[in-house]
Amino acid sequence: MRSLMEACCQLCNHTPATPCSKYLLCRTEGPLCHDNDQCRQQRQRFIREVILPDNSRSQIIVCGGTGCSSSGSANLVDLLNQEISKHGLGDVVQVKRTSCHGFCENGPILHIKPAGVFYTKVKPEDIKELVTSHLINGRIVERLLYQDNSGTVYPYFWDIPFYAGQTRLILRNCGQINPESIADYVAVGGYRSLVKVLQQMSPDEVIEEVTLSGLRGRGGAGFPTGRKWASARKAPGEIKYIICNADEGDPGAFMDRSLLEGDPHAVLEGMLIAGYAVGSTRGYIYCRAEYPLAIQRLKIAIGQAREAGLLGSNILNSGFAFDIVLKEGAGAFVCGEGTALQASIEGLRGMPRVKPPRSTEKGLWEKPTVLNNVETLANIPFLMQMGGTAYGQLGTAKSPGTKIFALSGAVTNPGLVEVPMGLTLREIIFGIGGGIRDGKGFKAVQLGGPSGGCLTEQHLDLPVDFDSLAGAGATIGSGGMVVMAEDTCMVDVARFFLAFTQSESCGKCTPCREGTKRMLEILERICQGEAELKDLEDLERLCRVVKSTSLCGLGQACPNPVISTLKYFRSEFLAHIIEKRCPAGVCSSLVKYSIAANCRGCGLCRKNCPVGAIEGERQQPHTIAEDKCIKCGVCLAQCKFGAVLRL
Ligand SMILES: Cc1cc2nc3c(=O)[nH]c(=O)nc-3n(C[C@H](O)[C@H](O)[C@H](O)COP(=O)(O)O)c2cc1C
Ligand code: SF4
Ligand code: SF4
Ligand code: FES
Repeated sequence: MRSLMEACCQLCNHTPATPCSKYLLCRTEGPLCHDNDQCRQQRQRFIREVILPDNSRSQIIVCGGTGCSSSGSANLVDLLNQEISKHGLGDVVQVKRTSCHGFCENGPILHIKPAGVFYTKVKPEDIKELVTSHLINGRIVERLLYQDNSGTVYPYFWDIPFYAGQTRLILRNCGQINPESIADYVAVGGYRSLVKVLQQMSPDEVIEEVTLSGLRGRGGAGFPTGRKWASARKAPGEIKYIICNADEGDPGAFMDRSLLEGDPHAVLEGMLIAGYAVGSTRGYIYCRAEYPLAIQRLKIAIGQAREAGLLGSNILNSGFAFDIVLKEGAGAFVCGEGTALQASIEGLRGMPRVKPPRSTEKGLWEKPTVLNNVETLANIPFLMQMGGTAYGQLGTAKSPGTKIFALSGAVTNPGLVEVPMGLTLREIIFGIGGGIRDGKGFKAVQLGGPSGGCLTEQHLDLPVDFDSLAGAGATIGSGGMVVMAEDTCMVDVARFFLAFTQSESCGKCTPCREGTKRMLEILERICQGEAELKDLEDLERLCRVVKSTSLCGLGQACPNPVISTLKYFRSEFLAHIIEKRCPAGVCSSLVKYSIAANCRGCGLCRKNCPVGAIEGERQQPHTIAEDKCIKCGVCLAQCKFGAVLRL
């Protein structure tokens, strides 16, 4: 039985046109309506072939996520298959291409099941050795295993500190199943929550369960999902909509993309359950067009779900009807804001409107609408399966569950990590992330993207949950976590985030349109050493005004990175303004290159300086003409004697 819809025997009365209401459970636990050994064996074969190798068979998982694909993982599948068939191993070894494992820096990744051996940075020329050594002779190829900074080698997936510190519940299928196969999703228990909900629960009971779990939206604001669904259910009107917000505009964020690419059916299942709960028959997924793989996989998943009778009318004979439309967005950050997103779906310019009314009362085409983030929706099948009370025990009391973070920046192990809410920043950055790379010191962590803030060493033991971070002046946001080393200029960081929001402001309201421009001008002047103390006062005043008077969340939150850097790194602002000095040596206008007395006069810097700013005789100390120097840093990189100084 290769297809999910295929009947197993003559007794099976299930057909694609008349789906049996129990057929999904039947695929993995059946036969349910008749007893037949041959049929049961076929079920077991389905599970085994699709997902779970037993001890007599191996499955080689080749990561086919965006990172590993761009470092050449696609070739590995063909090469592996060729070698496997050359050695006659086709019956005992299966090669499967999955999505991202979240550890992209170490890709291409190969994961061999059931043992769980995890190979990193695998090249085409390694394949022959992997097949003969690992598969034929049972010897692990040590040189391809992950090694941490201390030199410890880790043969097994779950022992690697990057994975050992995580709790991968929502990411459980990412990197494990083929995201283009509905059969894979069903074999690991997919769509069971939908069956449970449709067969055993009323819409009110579903909402009660979600409310009981305490789940808060993962799109940034942390709004209680149960409360949002309840208010949409209560809102009068026959037509209601469910929208999946897959815009993901925060720089550096890729949590939602990874879920869509790695487990698209989980998001569809979440939308179906939301639709049933609030009384909606139509869902939209708004996904930015810059995510072509996510869009392709969503299209495949929607097509498969329709074919399996899980989208459309009379789903699983329950009378419930629901279908999903995929809408591609042009990639504007402001279009992630709920009301702007709805305008964009309606074919209008993506601009926010004043709230209230809330979308749950008047949303898409003025109909009651539930707008949820991708990760929020992907939590739903898991939550319904385990029950609201049990889900509420995960994480912290006020922020239950887990959260996926895009850990990036100066950290040793950047990647996608899922942790229970309440883990500390230290546990995430130094435990899972392996600390700061290149032996540098920690300086700050920026959380929550352009709406978030920077925290310092004093916050490392802060639990990561909605309320603790907000108290310290940052937010979880959608899950961006950028780690910064000692050589980062915090004024430059504030400038970077404000430059982003300034260019993304839709321009509808004056405080955001004009205020972000003025704030950016001041930050640029500070970075260039051209600001006065009065500018700092203006900057702080602008932060307050833009925050309190802007129309939408973009303007209201964009001063946060500036406010938090001013709060925790004020001395750096003052050094730029008063001493005309960038303590981190980053702001190029304030940086000066000079040559110290230990110069050997080898002339290497002079030869390589692109503007001829260096002078000197052979074997005599050289000098740099400040007026000609463009501060490219080539001399510093070239000098083998450490004689070039960056001041
Ligand atoms: C400027 C701006 C951009 C936003 N971008 C996103 C986004 O890309 N994805 C998202 O889920 N929420 C985004 N949000 C938050 C949404 O407006 C909304 O709160 C969220 O999608 C609700 O889903 P949740 O309750 O599941 O968190 C953004 C908000 C603002 C103000
Ligand atoms: S706050 Fe900025 S993005 Fe939001 S409506 Fe005003 S101008 Fe547009
Ligand atoms: S490369 Fe170094 S040692 Fe050689 S001339 Fe330049 S500064 Fe002096
Ligand atoms: S793409 Fe392979 S680990 Fe991310």
